[in-house]
Amino acid sequence: MKDRKHLVVSAIKEGTVIDHIPAQDLFKVISILGLDHIETYITFGTNLESKKLKKKAIIKVSEVFFRQEDINRIALVAPEAKLNIIKDYEVVEKMIVEVPDQIIGIAKCVNPMCITNKENVTTKFYVVNKKEVSLKCHYCEKMTDQNNLDIV
Ligand code: CTP
Ligand code: ZN
Repeated sequence: MKDRKHLVVSAIKEGTVIDHIPAQDLFKVISILGLDHIETYITFGTNLESKKLKKKAIIKVSEVFFRQEDINRIALVAPEAKLNIIKDYEVVEKMIVEVPDQIIGIAKCVNPMCITNKENVTTKFYVVNKKEVSLKCHYCEKMTDQNNLDIV
């Protein structure tokens, strides 16, 4: 079974495999990591079977190794994602996503009166709860949580 699953999106030689992405969040992860702008070889699969998630997505990015701070940006949409670093076809390292202390950009403030929604000001939040992500706006102090979180 496992080998058949591996054939769905073929193995890569060097790069990063982002696995266990909730299927509905695939495109958010793509835009958060800027994968819609890079020039290297990328493959992805979605609505794949997974034991842990109902349906998962997987992204394989050749020749790219992300910094931990970039990986952590996806915590808002895919905290359960697992990253595998591939070198010469072997998994040499597994990385997990850690929710950062601060979020700059990415998310929108819920408060329609917030300066970040009225003017061209980048959003900035303090993460007050990492389990069920809850963000406090640096500018208006209103709370934005996972249920009403919109990606910029
Ligand atoms: N992978 C890949 N190219 C390689 C090696 C691995 O694309 N050359 C992918 C596999 O398809 C898998 C992920 O990297 O999606 C992790 O590989 P591996 O650790 O072998 O798989 P699992 O044991 O299933 O990992 P886990 O249960 O930790 O997700
Ligand atoms: Zn605000």
